[in-house]
Amino acid sequence: MKDKKVSGSKVELAQVMMPEHSNVAGNVHGGYILKLVDQASAIVAARHTHLNCVTASLDRMDFISPVYIGNLVFAKASINYTGKTSMEIGVRIEAECLRTGTHTHVGSAYLTFVALDENDKPTEIPQIIPETEEEKRRYEDAKGKREIRLQQTKKHRHVQQPCIVRPEKLK
Ligand SMILES: CC(C)(COP(=O)(O)OP(=O)(O)OC[C@H]1O[C@@H](n2cnc3c(N)ncnc32)[C@H](O)[C@@H]1OP(=O)(O)O)[C@@H](O)C(=O)NCCC(=O)NCCS
Repeated sequence: MKDKKVSGSKVELAQVMMPEHSNVAGNVHGGYILKLVDQASAIVAARHTHLNCVTASLDRMDFISPVYIGNLVFAKASINYTGKTSMEIGVRIEAECLRTGTHTHVGSAYLTFVALDENDKPTEIPQIIPETEEEKRRYEDAKGKREIRLQQTKKHRHVQQPCIVRPEKLK
């Protein structure tokens, strides 16, 4: 399996926040931002592996600044680290005020995705080649985070058996 560059799978989603994205206070709902985080990182995982990838974990995300209706929100995602079957993806959320052009850092999150084979079992993925200084720093940082994450999740690992038969599995 050939190693791949980080730049080959990175994405930048951009979306204008509309009234349907608001919470009761009239600002953008945090859950909607989390959806963008998950979407952007899922695209990176799929571009890197060309496999079905699932979200295994999302580390904490602090919302540093509110997001307003009318803001242009960016979700900038790239792969930080690859294990055997899992990968850490970092997402940075920024909001641009379209009146002033000001960019605000809203928050950043780290997600772990696992690639699955046709039997929904974790399967090997291509490794990344960190090229830039930033990519190398993120790779080293991710190693430490992975250790902590796995220590924390060890205690409650249990995978549910499928309880809904998928149409394609009826054939
Ligand atoms: C993610 C999942 C496939 C892992 O299954 P598992 O049987 O625990 O797999 P393994 O123990 O073989 O671990 C596979 C990889 O996942 C990593 N992993 C497993 N659970 C993890 C977690 N909670 N956080 C981070 N990494 C995790 C392991 O470190 C391993 O990585 P590596 O191969 O790079 O070393 C399984 O927990 C699952 O299906 N979860 C539901 C995913 C989902 O449906 N997400 C959508 C939200 S509902």
